[in-house]
Amino acid sequence: MKFKTDFLIIGSGISGLSLALYLSKLVPDEKLLLITKETLHESSTYHAQGGIACVWNNNDNFEKHVQDTLIAGDGLCNEKIVRRIINQAPERINELIELGVNFNRNANGEYDLGKEGGHSVRRILRVNDQTGQSVEKTLIENVKKLNNIDIREQWCAINLYVKDLKCHGAYVLEQKSEEIHNIASKSTILATGGAGKIYLYTTNPDIISGDGIAMAYRAGAMISNLEFYQFHPTCLYHPYAKSFLITEAMRGEGAILKDMRGKEFMEKYHPQKDLAPRDIVSRAIDAELKKSGDDYVYLDIASYKDSNFIKNHYPGIYEKCLEFNIDITKEPIPVVPAAHYCCGGVMAGINGVTEIKNLYVIGEAACTGFHGANRLASNSLLEGMVTAHECANYLSNNIPNLKVKEFPEWETGNAVPSTEAVIITQNWDEIRTLMQNFVGIVRSDARLKRALKRMNIFAEEIDYYYWNYKIEKNLIELRNLSMVAELLIRCALSRKESRGTHYNEDHPNRLKLARNSYIKRPW
Ligand code: FAD
Ligand code: SIN
Repeated sequence: MKFKTDFLIIGSGISGLSLALYLSKLVPDEKLLLITKETLHESSTYHAQGGIACVWNNNDNFEKHVQDTLIAGDGLCNEKIVRRIINQAPERINELIELGVNFNRNANGEYDLGKEGGHSVRRILRVNDQTGQSVEKTLIENVKKLNNIDIREQWCAINLYVKDLKCHGAYVLEQKSEEIHNIASKSTILATGGAGKIYLYTTNPDIISGDGIAMAYRAGAMISNLEFYQFHPTCLYHPYAKSFLITEAMRGEGAILKDMRGKEFMEKYHPQKDLAPRDIVSRAIDAELKKSGDDYVYLDIASYKDSNFIKNHYPGIYEKCLEFNIDITKEPIPVVPAAHYCCGGVMAGINGVTEIKNLYVIGEAACTGFHGANRLASNSLLEGMVTAHECANYLSNNIPNLKVKEFPEWETGNAVPSTEAVIITQNWDEIRTLMQNFVGIVRSDARLKRALKRMNIFAEEIDYYYWNYKIEKNLIELRNLSMVAELLIRCALSRKESRGTHYNEDHPNRLKLARNSYIKRPW
């Protein structure tokens, strides 16, 4: 089927939903179409735990938040962007409060600020350990009230239609009917999140397969800094606990990392110990595990906080761990580092503007220069809101003076339905294991080169499958995650130093001159 709209928003996390709200207010007469891969709420946003960083009280100021962000970013942040985002955090947070997010308050009625790694003061607004859930539900409630928006769930974008470096919309698979739609739009906005599923162990939900980054790359956009994949130090270790995060806020309240014999180890690695920036804590755990041969380390909150404190502050984690017979009020939690956040992405301005006309990228899929080589905890939800706000302002002042242009129908050619799903699942598993083992927390030139060779073989197999079999969501995701994995490896190979989340044992030092890595499709 053919659709026409003024703004096509792809993704329903904090950035896509916020954009819809801002745009609807600014341009109420324009038509918005928001599509999302699964149900509206499914996103990384929904799973966010710790909270949103924001300068909120007199102990804090913008300069401190800026400096903490720059230190974590390890020389690669764009300071101008950092200041712009941080300065508007209070305004964006107040909007969330007005929309209905009930951030935690203390007994005096003041907002109860949390602390996380790399932050010099308490500045995290949160809703227990389920901040994302609360933000996402509130945004959805408000978006559903808009009357110039058409929302489509289980619609998965396959590719952008770009001609002469201008984007005209996207091809989209409606999963139930298996129909491929042609959505023509004046402006297309990717708010598709990161790419955690390229790794075997990740905190991200299943849908986060780098689709937006891969689509933008295929369309000719510049991709930057993909080698900086942030590993979160503490993901629950249990054979049946798929991707469950244990919030850093727990270490902010005094939880301590220990090896399996109960020995603390972080003092060997950094003066800030358990609250050092994430890259350092993840590498420290990785080193301890390699040394000991153990499968996991422990995060111990039970020895430092009483049962009521733990249940009140971490109700989600308490319940989840109990499902696996771990009572976090009585015993330490087995944890391992897992892929968490894509610091790089599609090169975009703070307003989402890319090199492709009428194509915008916001939120985690974008690389704006805010996070540099390593994101400071709880700065991401903030970036999602700010980039959505800036993008809406830009779009409302620059509505393209053109008629929405139709583009050719999707050609299925001689494609036949796939009879062997196992080929897809096998490739998924192999790529994710390869990325985990060869392109993980500690890298080497030899492992990266091997990984790239293997990725080239996968790319050929997947390409064959893509053109000869009927398109389905798994195949779209596999194609995208394999493309993002390959781009990440190429970015990593181009960096002859260790910086931020990228550590290569053949180049352990940091070069004096900080540079971003860029990668663009050859034409
Ligand atoms: P997402 O929220 O990931 O949304 C992406 C959307 O795009 C989804 O709706 C998805 O369905 C859709 N989509 C993707 N591909 C397609 C496609 N092909 N077609 C259609 N739709 C598509 N950050 C913080 O600041 N504080 C925290 O406390 C915090 N905790 C976190 C905890 C966890 C477990 C995780 C995984 C992340 C956490 N983060 C946190 C990071 C933060 O949640 C994300 O960076 C942020 O939510 C990203 O928002 P987004 O809108 O860019 O993308
Ligand atoms: C957490 O709660 O530890 C995640 C915070 C983040 O990723 O910013």
